[in-house]
Amino acid sequence: MKSTVPARVRIVEVGPRDGLQNENDPVPTATKIAFVDALSKSGLTDIEVTSFVNPKAVPQMADAADVLNSIERSPGVRYSALIPNLKGFELWLGCAGRFALDQRAIALFTAASETFNRRNTNAGIGESIETFRVITDRLRTDMAEELPFIRGYISTAVRCPFEGPIEPAKVLDVCSRLLDLGVDEVSLGDTIGAAVPTDIERLLDAVLTEIDARRIALHLHDTRGTALANVVTAMRYGIAIFDSSSGGLGGCPFAPGAFGNLATEDLLYMLNGMNIETGVDLTAVAAASESIRAFIGHPLASKELQALEAAGF
Ligand code: HMG
Ligand code: MG
Repeated sequence: MKSTVPARVRIVEVGPRDGLQNENDPVPTATKIAFVDALSKSGLTDIEVTSFVNPKAVPQMADAADVLNSIERSPGVRYSALIPNLKGFELWLGCAGRFALDQRAIALFTAASETFNRRNTNAGIGESIETFRVITDRLRTDMAEELPFIRGYISTAVRCPFEGPIEPAKVLDVCSRLLDLGVDEVSLGDTIGAAVPTDIERLLDAVLTEIDARRIALHLHDTRGTALANVVTAMRYGIAIFDSSSGGLGGCPFAPGAFGNLATEDLLYMLNGMNIETGVDLTAVAAASESIRAFIGHPLASKELQALEAAGF
C-alpha cells in the first residue's frame, strides 16, 4: 500500500443525477438547470447532469433531454449523462451535437451483482456488456473523430442489498470487460454505503493487480458515515478520482438502504485541509446546494454545509 496521497484529485459531481433521481418531490426542470449552471461556476470539471432511463422507473429524470439541452455549457467542463441501453444512447445522441467535443461524456452502468443489475436495469451483467459493445462500436463508426468521454459504472462493488458481500474478483472481471470495450475510466460504486476501509483495501488489492489506478474512480455513498475514511484509504492506493454529490443528496431507488452520496462539500473540506488540489471552490458548491434546498423535502446531509450555515454562510 502506498503511504502517500495524490497531489491532485478530480471530483465528479453527481448531484444533479444521483442526487435528484432519488427525491420524491418533483424538482422543476428550470431549478435543475439552474443547479447545474451554479455547479458549472464552481471549478468542477465533470458534472453528471442526468440519466436517459425509463421515466416510469425514475420519474425525476423524465426531463433528461430538456435539462441537457438547456444548461449553460461552460468551457472546460464535461457534462455527462447516464445511459443503460440503446434507447438511452439514441436520446443522448439527440443532445450531443450541442456540446463541444471536450464537453461530451456518457456513463454506461452495470453492476458486480447479477441480482442488482437485473433489478436496476432488467438485464444480466453479460447483457449490459453486450449492449455497451453495440454502443461503443457505434460511437467508433459514427463519431470516430468526435468520441465522447466514456465512463463505466460498476454498482454494488462491495456489497449488494440482495446478494450480500461481493467478491473483489467479480469486480475485477466486470472492470476488465468494460475497459476492453474502450471506456476511459471505471467508477466502482459502494451503492448502499456499506464499505469500511478494509473493504476498500480488499477491493483495490484485487482490481489494481491488473488495472492502472488512473483508470479507476470511487463512487461512495455515505449511508453509515464511512465514505471519507474510504476516500483516504483509496488515495493511499493512488486513486485520484472521486464521485460526490452537492449537499450530500442521493441514493438509488433500486437499492434499499442507499441514502446520500458522499457530499462534495465534505470531500472538499477534507481535501482542502490535506492540501490536495481539486480546483473546486467549496463556497460555490455550497451556493449551488442552497439553490436546490427549497425544492427538497428534507435537510441536506452535508456536514460541512451545516457547519457553514451555523457560521452564517
Ligand atoms: P425495460 O423495461 O427492460 O425496457 O427497462 P424496455 O426496452 O422493455 O422498455 C420499457 C419502457 O421503457 C418502454 O416505454 C421504453 O420506451 C422505455 P413504454 O413503451 O412502456 O412507454 N425505455 C426508455 N425510456 C427512456 N430512456 C430509456 C429507455 N429504455 C426503455 N433509456 C431500463 C430497462 C434500463 C430502461 C429500465 O430498467 C430503467 O429505466 N431502469 C432505471 C435504472 C436507473 O436509472 N437506476 C438508477 C441509476 S443507477 C445508480 O444509481 C447507481 C450508480 O449511482 C452507481 C452506484 O451508486 O453504485 C450509477
Ligand atoms: Mg450512486
